[in-house]
Amino acid sequence: MKTASSYTARKPDASGLIDYPDSEHEVWSLLYNRQMTVIIDRACPEYHQGLDLLGLTADRIPQLPELDAVLQQTTGWSVARVPALISFDRFFQLLANRQFPAATFIRRKDELDYLQEPDIFHEVFGHCPLLTNPDFAALTEVYGKMGLAASKEERVYLARLYWMTVEFGLVQSGDSEGLKIYGGGILSSHSETLYALDSDQPVRKAFDLIDVLRTPYRIDILQPVYFIIPEFHELKSIVESDIMEAVREAMKLGMHKPLF
Ligand SMILES: [Fe+2]
Repeated sequence: MKTASSYTARKPDASGLIDYPDSEHEVWSLLYNRQMTVIIDRACPEYHQGLDLLGLTADRIPQLPELDAVLQQTTGWSVARVPALISFDRFFQLLANRQFPAATFIRRKDELDYLQEPDIFHEVFGHCPLLTNPDFAALTEVYGKMGLAASKEERVYLARLYWMTVEFGLVQSGDSEGLKIYGGGILSSHSETLYALDSDQPVRKAFDLIDVLRTPYRIDILQPVYFIIPEFHELKSIVESDIMEAVREAMKLGMHKPLF
């Protein structure tokens, strides 16, 4: 994890709202409009439902209390305003308490395509729609609770579960429309939204928990491997499985060779 960011998260005024300059709303609009054209037939139906519920719009960066109102009503989650970078402990604590961390800054126009530290577009557009879904919300909460209790080495394995689901998961859509995206790391990235479904470069494998936990990843490249869950509800089965036992098993078996 980087220890310094070139971005500073904005703070709300006395009314709890953040006064972003027009130039930052404009970056949101660019990102929002560009993503909407590619996710329309690539994001899973559960994501689209969440997007409708949140009522995000192209014209401005949403305010966190607006998102909280919807998340509270659907799954009991809220969004926690955080600085650009937080510790793993803080990250797990927040998730365990059903608070999704969002740094209140947006990328500069010259970093429209990629930036290493997650900004408000990634957190809100990428993740918040599915936080209205009980199965996705449950997985995120359980991950936080397990992360809090895990050792440093176990956390490294656990992080791969989060990465291959919450960030980069694919799902076989139940309505026979084929492969769809639910991972927020993909859905907030224009190039990866196209690449994850349309390219013949990456490996796409059926989700297998031990396999996932043994698969190394890099955060700064298009992913070489995606795991596909057979239906969205499968996230509930993952939550109900003995994940820490699988972590111990994966640690015994060791890592797969990186594909990067
Ligand atoms: Fe993320």
